[in-house]
Amino acid sequence: MAPNTLWDTVLKPFFQTFLLDQGELEQIQAAVDWQAGETRYALPPGITYPPYYQSQNFHGIEGGYLTTTAALTYDPITRHVLPPNEDWVRQGLIDRIGGSPRQILDLGCGTGTQTLALKKAFPLATVTGLDLSPFMLSLAEYKADQAHLSIHWRSGLAEATGFPAQQFDLITAALLFHETPPAISQAILREAFRLLTPGGQLLILDGNQDSLRQQAWLTNIFEEPYIQDYAQGDLRAWLQDAGFEAVQTENHWWVHQIAQGRKSLPVQSPTWRSSATETVGSAIFA
Ligand SMILES: C[S@@+](CC[C@H](N)C(=O)[O-])C[C@H]1O[C@@H](n2cnc3c(N)ncnc32)[C@H](O)[C@@H]1O
Repeated sequence: MAPNTLWDTVLKPFFQTFLLDQGELEQIQAAVDWQAGETRYALPPGITYPPYYQSQNFHGIEGGYLTTTAALTYDPITRHVLPPNEDWVRQGLIDRIGGSPRQILDLGCGTGTQTLALKKAFPLATVTGLDLSPFMLSLAEYKADQAHLSIHWRSGLAEATGFPAQQFDLITAALLFHETPPAISQAILREAFRLLTPGGQLLILDGNQDSLRQQAWLTNIFEEPYIQDYAQGDLRAWLQDAGFEAVQTENHWWVHQIAQGRKSLPVQSPTWRSSATETVGSAIFA
């Protein structure tokens, strides 16, 4: 049965009539080499699209993220649906990054808007964006080329990336967790923990779970198959369960939240108490 979301009944016709610039969409449609992208961003051998991803029409788009339509319409719609405005919301994640990360991974990077912002904020860092959709990645690559930003784009599963352990000192996920079943979100957090260097930071920008719970209509704006399960969850607890320390979640405007955690540094061995210290100590207390 077709879902009766606010998007289908009211917003989609409004967007189509007033907010989507057909000329701009056609220009991007023609400029991106989708076919080459489909080959370049095919999943690595042995990995297949998981049923929770392939079987859903995210945002009411038949075929979900595995379509050019999803990629083409994502940015023009997202520009209007992250109040108070998209740049401010995304900057909130950048502002909470501690230090100067050198190896950054953006999970579920989509069309790369957050990934590009990360590279602009940390031009010396090696930045990698990972996503399951070859179409979202094709557009991300096009946007990075247009902006003359060097970013590595990879296709794969956020919950099983295949990257070696302890490779990244910052991992981000923007607007990903409301789109994955909670068990997968928790698997992604465990994978992020594995991939982080000791002392590394994880930052998550997504819907505010408290607000989504209290204002149920917010979960019925788009066709988001897992958003109600996400709303019932608790990112803080999920982060702690995955092993993170210094876990925090903050309201970011009232519909968004930014959650973060760190992978702890190894406990220092007590051998730092050198024999010199002990000699001084025994001299003082002699
Ligand atoms: C709502 S979009 C967010 C895109 C981007 N991070 C942003 O901030 O605009 C969610 C993205 O997550 C991707 N995705 C969903 N499940 C995934 C998974 N298990 N592994 C990797 N990517 C996934 C989708 O293909 C989609 O591009």
